[in-house]
Amino acid sequence: MQTALRTSLPETELASRADFVPHARVVHGERPVHTGGRPLSIRGLRKSFCDNEVLRGIDLHIPAGQFVAIVGKSGCGKSTLLRLIAGLDGIDAGSISFGGDVQPEDIRVMFQEPRLLPWARVLANVEVGLGRDRASSDAHARAEKALSEVSLADKRDQWPSVLSGGQKQRVALGRALVSRPRVLAFDEPLGALDALTRISMQRLLERVWRDQGFTAILVTHDVSEAVALADRVLVIEEGRIAHDVTVNALRPRQRGSAELASLEGSILSHLLSADDRT
Ligand SMILES: Nc1ncnc2c1ncn2[C@@H]1O[C@H](COP(=O)(O)OP(=O)(O)O)[C@@H](O)[C@H]1O
Ligand SMILES: [Mg+2]
Repeated sequence: MQTALRTSLPETELASRADFVPHARVVHGERPVHTGGRPLSIRGLRKSFCDNEVLRGIDLHIPAGQFVAIVGKSGCGKSTLLRLIAGLDGIDAGSISFGGDVQPEDIRVMFQEPRLLPWARVLANVEVGLGRDRASSDAHARAEKALSEVSLADKRDQWPSVLSGGQKQRVALGRALVSRPRVLAFDEPLGALDALTRISMQRLLERVWRDQGFTAILVTHDVSEAVALADRVLVIEEGRIAHDVTVNALRPRQRGSAELASLEGSILSHLLSADDRT
């Protein structure tokens, strides 16, 4: 049975569209501040682009609040999977469900490019993430809170152009967090950052995930990042989940520990052997 799902788009994606801002001013009343994550169940998910069968039957259950990393070689369909989860693209077959109704603000995606509005100051860029709540009386206060969660309260009146790459990504994270999402998907969000900034962003991601309890889905090409952050690492191969690896290491995790290094090694060997077969 095919289930057609999700029609509305998260505003993190819409933020890059010229028609977004006027629509965002429409008031639909106050939205309660949620805490906690949503479970995610995917059954028989398929997606092709013309004759390119990208996802060939994804079956996956993610419990509420779990931190899942997704790895796989370039072009294996990681971004496609995230776009389907976020409702940014339509599925061909199968189903995606979140254990009940979801609002557009409940599911957010953060991309590698921060996608900030250059003509809006930092605080206004974060407010964009409130979507239909943007005109509510507490919009400023909520955006200020999200900015302090990403340690950028002092940059609220700056233009995006004066920020460093890491700071721009923190604004993008603040914009994703401001609506208190239940599921937050990250598509290689740290890929363009230098090594030190990357590590401090990884710590920030882990901290906000622990504080807010959303379900986190991180696509990354960096296996050491995957094992450092995630409860579970999924390896996608040939359109399916080929390996599902649990990371039991206690938090806070010791980067470079023997336990993480050994897990990283075994996941890398899965990836390399898949590469040898193609
Ligand atoms: N909108 C699209 N139109 C046509 N082909 C696409 C589209 N999006 C992705 N693809 C193709 O789907 C495959 C998977 O892409 P993607 O999900 O971006 O891979 P990954 O994120 O794992 O690198 C690639 O072959 C890519 O060219
Ligand atoms: Mg991708």
